[in-house]
Amino acid sequence: MGIQLTWLAHSGFKLEIEGKTVLIDPFLTGNPLAPMKADELRADFILLSHGHGDHVGDTVAIAKRTGATVVGNFEIANWIEGKGVKNVAGLNTGGGYDFGFGRVEYTLAFHSSSLPDGSYGGQPHGILIFAPGTTFYHSGDTALFTDMQLIGDKGVDVAILCVGDYFTMGPTDSLDAIRFIRPSYVLPMHYNTFPPIQQDIAKWAQQVHNHTEAKAIVLDPGGTHEF
Ligand code: NI
Ligand code: MN
Repeated sequence: MGIQLTWLAHSGFKLEIEGKTVLIDPFLTGNPLAPMKADELRADFILLSHGHGDHVGDTVAIAKRTGATVVGNFEIANWIEGKGVKNVAGLNTGGGYDFGFGRVEYTLAFHSSSLPDGSYGGQPHGILIFAPGTTFYHSGDTALFTDMQLIGDKGVDVAILCVGDYFTMGPTDSLDAIRFIRPSYVLPMHYNTFPPIQQDIAKWAQQVHNHTEAKAIVLDPGGTHEF
């Protein structure tokens, strides 16, 4: 049985790994592309890249309903706990922990991270997931940076990269990110949700094909791919 990856639109993903449901940045309420409602989602773990509302999203409601463990940076984990969520884990940059479904590591990301109420949200992060047989890298919101080569040195099979431009790196910089990370597969995220981040994703996929060694996988919101 492989790992099922479902795109929840924007930077939200659902991973089904050996019977555990792992959500990343579940932002459904207020997301014009959301393929389902937050109260339809199961979760055992919720991983957060940074504190912005389009990433923290429905985390508190989902965690309270399901009992999921919320993993974030130290500041975000404390803030989530303060909202009444029982199970939290606060990692920080460069650290990792094995949560049973696989080891999770928090990588560098170049962005900002204030929480929805303006609280300090610590540093933004990318997320590495060393699942059985497949390693995933979710870039979070970030600029292109050369230390993505070090992330690639860890052996990334599947890179999930922000490509929307305006708030994060755009399609052109993402091609350099792919060359630094050297994944077998790449998925785009953080595009088309809002007017400033509209992108021609078919054109991006063609450029990935023409200029990198990776295979682009473009999902529709709610679409699933098995790895
Ligand atoms: Ni952000
Ligand atoms: Mn964002």
